[in-house]
Order: sequence, then C-alpha cells, then structure tokens
Amino acid sequence: MNLSIRKILILSSFLLASELVISASSSSEHTSGIKPISINISDKKSLQRGARNFFNYCSGCHSLKYMRYGEIAEHLNISEEQLLNNLTFSDQTPQDIVTTNMSKADGDRWFGKAPPDLTLVTRRKNPDYVYQFLKSFYQDDKSPTGVNNKIKDATSMPHVLWLVEEEMSTKNYDQFLLDIVTFLEYAGDPSQENRKSLGLWVLSFLFLFLIFSYALYKDIWREVK
Ligand code: HEC
Repeated sequence: MNLSIRKILILSSFLLASELVISASSSSEHTSGIKPISINISDKKSLQRGARNFFNYCSGCHSLKYMRYGEIAEHLNISEEQLLNNLTFSDQTPQDIVTTNMSKADGDRWFGKAPPDLTLVTRRKNPDYVYQFLKSFYQDDKSPTGVNNKIKDATSMPHVLWLVEEEMSTKNYDQFLLDIVTFLEYAGDPSQENRKSLGLWVLSFLFLFLIFSYALYKDIWREVK
C-alpha cells in the first residue's frame, strides 16, 4: 500500500517538474547559424521599454492587428492614457486594434511590398531571427534604402534605428533590441504568462486533492477493517 502511494507521489512530482521544464523552454525552434538570445517575457520592465520602442520606431509602418491598445496597457501595467499619449497618431481609443497610418497600397508602392503585420512575426520566424535581423543592417550604397541586411539580403526595410544604434553603446543597443523582441514575443502570444501560472495552480490543486483523497481512503478503509 505504502509503495503504491509513493509511486503516485513520485509520478505527480514528475509531472510537476516536466511542466516546469516545458514552460521554461522556448516555444519556437532556432534557425541554424543564428545565435540564440534569451528572452524573459515575465520581465515587465523589459516589456514596457519594448512597447515604448515599438510605438516610437516601428508602428509608423507595422501594425499589430491581433492586439488592442487597452489589452497591452493592462498586461504591461501601464495606463491607457500613457500608452495612447505615446502614439504618433492621436485618434485611437483603448478598444482599437494596433494599426499603422500607412495604407497597404502606399506601403506596396513605397517599399515594393507593404511592411508586414508584426503580431505573429516571432512565431512565424522566431525571436532569434527577428533580433539578428534588426542587428544586421549595414551600409550599402547600391541599395535604394542605402542599407542592406546580412540576415535578409536586399530587404526593403530601411535601417530605421540607425540613429539609435549610432548614439547608444553596443550593450545598450543590444538591450534596446532585446526589449523590442521581448515585446513582439509577448504580442505573438499574450496569454503565455497567464497560462503558465494557471498550469501551476491546476497542478498544485491536483496535488492537494491527491493528499485529501488518500486521507479519505485511509479513513474509509479503517472502518471497514
Ligand atoms: C519605414 C517603414 C518601416 C519601419 C519604421 C519599420 N519597418 Fe520593419 N519592415 C519594413 C518593410 C518594408 C519590411 C518588408 C521587408 C522585406 O520583406 O524585405 C519590413 C519587415 C520587417 C520584418 C520582417 C523581416 C522578415 O524577414 O520577414 C521585421 C521583423 C521588422 N520589419 C521589424 C521591424 C521593427 C522591430 C521595427 C521598429 C524598430 C520596424 N520593423 C520598423 C518597413 C519598416
């Protein structure tokens, strides 16, 4: 009897441990040849900085059409006002989805291909790719944008961060990019954090339930014997 309850306990702690391992490992595969970065989407400060960077430097061209401003504000502990005040265009409400002022037709005309929506970009590619893409612009006078990219040759995206890159130390610039990628990773799966903590609650509940049922089982059988 003691043996089987021990087995159950071992099994359930194993389940608990494997859940922790699964939640700790990154969800997307790594692209070969690209250095993996480590992202922590529970880091609220990094997410807040990433959101600020995104709205300052990316949202002029890229939308996040599966996210609403209010949702971002709530998840990232920033006030809706603060978020909306930081946007380049002011007629948005918290219920609106994160759009860009650039129409698809203009985007196609200006860049050959309109800038893609970025909500799922870290899922479609992966965070390491996005980070390296942003870090790999170099000057190329033959290109119409004046730059080229080591990760994506002949990309039509201009090096919109060139001033930031020039003004910041390498360490700060790396952090700046990491914050944006962390924010994009969050945007690709906003309920990730909730799901993980809910999973732990559920497992803890099951574990407690196991202890109670075992006690009950003992109690009932004592009377029978
Ligand atoms: C001036 C407009 C513009 C701005 C601002 C801009 N982008 Fe882009 N971006 C583009 C265009 C155009 C493309 C399509 C490039 C291509 O397919 O070669 C693109 C593509 C991308 C891609 C996809 C690359 C791929 O391989 O599919 C990512 C990721 C990206 N941008 C991230 C960002 C981030 C992050 C910012 C803010 C720091 C930003 N972009 C700011 C125009 C812009």
